[in-house]
Formats: sequence, structure tokens, C-alpha cells
Amino acid sequence: MTLATCLLTGGAGFIGCALSPLLADRFERVVAMDNLHPQIHAARTRPTALDARVELIVADVCAHADWERVLAQVRPDAIVHLAAETGTAQSLTESARHAQVNVTGMACMLDALVRHAALPERIVLASSRAVYGEGEWQRHEDGAIVDPGQRGRAMLEAAQWDFPGLRALPHEAGHTALHPTSVYGATKLAQEHVLSAWAQAVGVRASVLRMQNVYGPGQSLGNPYTGIVPLFCQIARAGNSIPVYEDGAIVRDFVCVDDVARAIFAAIDADIQHTAPIDIGSGTPTTILQLAQWIARRYGAPAPTITGQYRHGDVRQACARIDAARAHLGWQPHVRLDAGLERLCAWIDAHPDTTRGSLAG
Ligand SMILES: NC(=O)c1ccc[n+]([C@@H]2O[C@H](COP(=O)([O-])OP(=O)(O)OC[C@H]3O[C@@H](n4cnc5c(N)ncnc54)[C@H](O)[C@@H]3O)[C@@H](O)[C@H]2O)c1
Repeated sequence: MTLATCLLTGGAGFIGCALSPLLADRFERVVAMDNLHPQIHAARTRPTALDARVELIVADVCAHADWERVLAQVRPDAIVHLAAETGTAQSLTESARHAQVNVTGMACMLDALVRHAALPERIVLASSRAVYGEGEWQRHEDGAIVDPGQRGRAMLEAAQWDFPGLRALPHEAGHTALHPTSVYGATKLAQEHVLSAWAQAVGVRASVLRMQNVYGPGQSLGNPYTGIVPLFCQIARAGNSIPVYEDGAIVRDFVCVDDVARAIFAAIDADIQHTAPIDIGSGTPTTILQLAQWIARRYGAPAPTITGQYRHGDVRQACARIDAARAHLGWQPHVRLDAGLERLCAWIDAHPDTTRGSLAG
């Protein structure tokens, strides 16, 4: 099927810029719609990393009038929906803003597509591992699978980081229960539900990719609310010890942005009947202490410091099982963590002017 025009919401962001050359090669016309949110784009200017062949329309996904303006100029065959508020911790204090952009903003897009009779062939939504919350754990004693729920205030205040007697299992769509522990995660889950209900009713093929922690060159160095990897890099680069929360054993699945861009690209073109969400990650668990130690070594910084601090809404363990991505997208990650981190560090070294110094958010 010929898909000529692609609309990329949030296209001026981290993942959008990495995806932009792939889309520009594939489509006759690619239009990025982005409001150049000041938390991500301090200068409010077009990012140099956005492929030069991509048109940028500065517009807000929450504004009906902006959708009128965009759809008067663009009839998309495919939409990649990336525009979002993405701060996990920030979402607990600015929940209305996260709900507004992530849920209402996407609903505004769907209404506008109907109003303009501009239904695309396909929509790819960038969802998140945050929809799982703590996911599923297995009891050592008898192998039973349990859903431990959210780590509550009392548990964290007592520095009881883990669920006793349990080990975490990888996230897998269709198996792992959906219990977001942050407002951000709840809004990403709501996005999935809204899109899926709408797409089935109107006959648009929608793909949902649940991405783990994305890192890599191009990641915002000025946004204190997201991106633990560039934050750690900047602390170590300044010669300081990286503060590591809890006991250092929080687990994440770090996947390089280039691999994520390839996964989203594959989802646009994959001729699949598979309608369930697909997990995108490296498939490899890494503790935050391991990450911090690698980065400290890279910069010759002092050893990381385990602080025992914690953030409400942070889950203890997150890692994906990526068999569905292999089977349905023909995708697998190519970038090993050490190689991806080295590329990120080299990119940060080339952009020394933007720094931030504390674990805000
Ligand atoms: N980076 C990750 O680790 C990660 C992990 C899982 C899921 N995701 C999802 O991937 C998508 C892209 O994330 P990213 O890391 O590139 O984030 P980002 O913050 O770098 O990019 C988001 C872009 O959306 C734009 N935007 C924000 N609000 C908007 C609005 N109201 N109207 C128009 N544009 C708006 C911002 O200006 C920014 O350019 C998001 O939906 C996010 O939830 C990211």
C-alpha cells in the first residue's frame, strides 16, 4: 500500500528527531506537529536534529484551532503520535497537565481527523512501560505469580525497597497486569484505551508500542524531569559522585533511541493483524547502580553514592520481554548498552554548553 504523507506529532522531541530521517526516506512528505514545549525546547527553535526534509508546524495537540490549521495543510496517510507530557514524578504534582496533553490532546486529534474526514490508514502510538507499574512477580516459595501492587508510603519510608520473597518477571503485553503507579503511566494507559476504541470503531489500524527507558544522543539535557541517563552523565562529567536512589538495585531496561526509531518505523509498515500492544526494550535488565558505575568510570568521576532517597511512583523493576516485537515487527535491538552509552557520552561531550546539576523531579 502506498502511504505518501506522514504526520509526526511531538516530532521535534528526542524520539521524533531520531525517527525523522527514516520517515523522510520512506514518505513523500513528512510533517512534524510540535508546540516546542519550553521544558524541552528552551530556545523554542527548530531542533537541528530534525531531518531537514521534514516540515515543522508549531502547533498544540490540545488546541482545536491548531488542528484545523494542520489538517487544512496535511492529509496524513500515517500518523506517529509522540506528543506528550513525559515526567513520571512531575505527573504526580501536575496531573491535570499530563491528563490534558496525553489524553485530551490525543482525543482532540481523533476528533479533528473525523471532522476533516481525514482518517489515516494507520496510527502508531508511543506508549510506555509505565502502564504496567510494578508488573508481575513470582513467589520463590511455590512459583506462584502475584501482582504485588504499588509500593506504598510506609514501605518506602521504612526503606523496604523490594517485595519480600518475590522476584520480578519481565513485562509482556497480554500477560502482565496493567497497574500504573504514576499519573503519567495512567495517562499513557488511557491513551491506549482511547485510541484502541476509536480505531476499531472507525476502521483505522492502530499500533501501540510500549517502550522501556529510551536513551541516546539527542536526549534533552535541559529537562530536569526526564532522562536519568543524560542526568547521570552530566553529574559525572562535572566530576561529582552520582547519587543513586534506594539501594541502587532498581532495575530498568535501557533501549537506544536508534533501536526505538527502527521499531516505530517497522510498526508503520508491518502488514500485521496483530492488534495487541508490543513491548520495545533491550530485553536486558540493568540496575541503576550498574548504570551509574559505568558512567562514573567513563568520566573518571568518584564512585556513585547510594543515598537511600526515593521517589513516589518509581517502580522497583522494569524490563521487557521482546518476543512479540521479534515476531510481529521483525525487529530486535542492535545497540548494546555500553556502545549506546558511549555514543550518548560522546554526544554530550560535543554539547557541553547545556548542563544541569541536580536530581530534580
Ligand atoms: N523517552 C522515553 O524513555 C520514553 C519511554 C516510553 C515512552 N515514551 C513516549 O514517547 C513519546 C516521545 O517521547 P520523547 O522521549 O521523544 O519525549 P520529548 O519530550 O523529547 O518529546 C515530546 C515532544 O512533544 C512535544 N509536545 C509536548 N506537548 C505538546 C503539545 N501539547 N502539542 C504538541 N507537541 C507537544 C514537545 O515539544 C516535544 O518535542 C512520548 O509519548 C512518551 O510518552 C518515551
